[in-house]
Amino acid sequence: MTKVLITGGAGFIGSTLAEALLERGDEVIVFDDFSNGKIQNLSRVRKQIKIVKGDVRNLEDLRAATKHVDEIFHLAVKNLRVSLVQPIPVHDVNTTGTLNVCIVAKENRKKLKRLVFTSTGEVYGLAQYFPIDVNHPYGSTNVYAASKVAGEMYIKTYYHLYKIPSVIVRLFNTYGPRSVRTGYAEVIPKFVNRVRKGLPPIIHGDGKQTRDFTYVSDIVSGIISASECDELVGDAVNLGSGKETSINELAETIIQIYGKEGKIKPKHTKPRIGDLRRSVADISKASRLFGYKPKVPLKLGLKKYAEWLAVNS
Ligand SMILES: NC(=O)c1ccc[n+]([C@@H]2O[C@H](COP(=O)([O-])OP(=O)(O)OC[C@H]3O[C@@H](n4cnc5c(N)ncnc54)[C@H](O)[C@@H]3O)[C@@H](O)[C@H]2O)c1
Repeated sequence: MTKVLITGGAGFIGSTLAEALLERGDEVIVFDDFSNGKIQNLSRVRKQIKIVKGDVRNLEDLRAATKHVDEIFHLAVKNLRVSLVQPIPVHDVNTTGTLNVCIVAKENRKKLKRLVFTSTGEVYGLAQYFPIDVNHPYGSTNVYAASKVAGEMYIKTYYHLYKIPSVIVRLFNTYGPRSVRTGYAEVIPKFVNRVRKGLPPIIHGDGKQTRDFTYVSDIVSGIISASECDELVGDAVNLGSGKETSINELAETIIQIYGKEGKIKPKHTKPRIGDLRRSVADISKASRLFGYKPKVPLKLGLKKYAEWLAVNS
């Protein structure tokens, strides 16, 4: 049986990944400091997995938890919104935390078969062309993105120095159950939570900025397929939908789902610093290497998310 450890496994994507890896037949260890993740996210699988409360900034915590694991999925993060107000903890968790993961991977390299690092489409910064492929140069418009570029460089360095069998997956905007409204929430939880209460979604700027939205089950199956792809070792791949949606279109779709057309109109406020104007992934490498093909269209995914929220908040 493959023994896997997921850092950030109590979070939105990590808990969905924990369920999927359990379904694959793995022995699953979740490693999380519960700063943003929740034990309820693991309620379906709690009895079948091991949960370790620990901090990726603490090498000893990680060393103890990763002994004898076959695969590490490194998802623990402090996100973009946090980075706008607290850059140092974001650097510590995302960059130092990733170096720590590399160090324990090296210590465990006789047994370790895979180290997967969840990076982000934000590492391309203000892109020079669209859709953005994995050969696009690095850029960065915020501290979160910079911390992920640094994390990727550590992963690549440990691959080159010690042949740590790593794979980098650059995720674009992901949504779905367990993505919740916090002070730092992403656009979909924010809009859905306002529209369901009859309030207008608040759009920063003109709303013509675009994003690539993917339902969480598609992202998780992409992460697993990428981890199983030998050709990807030492390399990176984009995971997204490959479709570009404007924030105005997103707001309108959510308004339609709640049957509030004509009753609610989005409100526009000033643009947010560091926001990208366009974002859309070229997913052809993932399609070619492991047949990646997202299955859930945006409107259906948003409906599923709305249904989940109706019973979970
Ligand atoms: N959600 C998205 O749209 C998106 C897009 C691109 C990339 N990603 C990447 O996917 C990964 C998962 O993101 P998510 O949306 O599930 O975020 P999340 O915030 O829901 O999950 C992150 C988890 O990391 C944990 N964590 C934070 N600091 C920690 C620390 N010091 N030690 C141990 N655990 C710690 C949190 O408690 C949380 O459970 C991240 O690496 C993120 O950068 C996500």
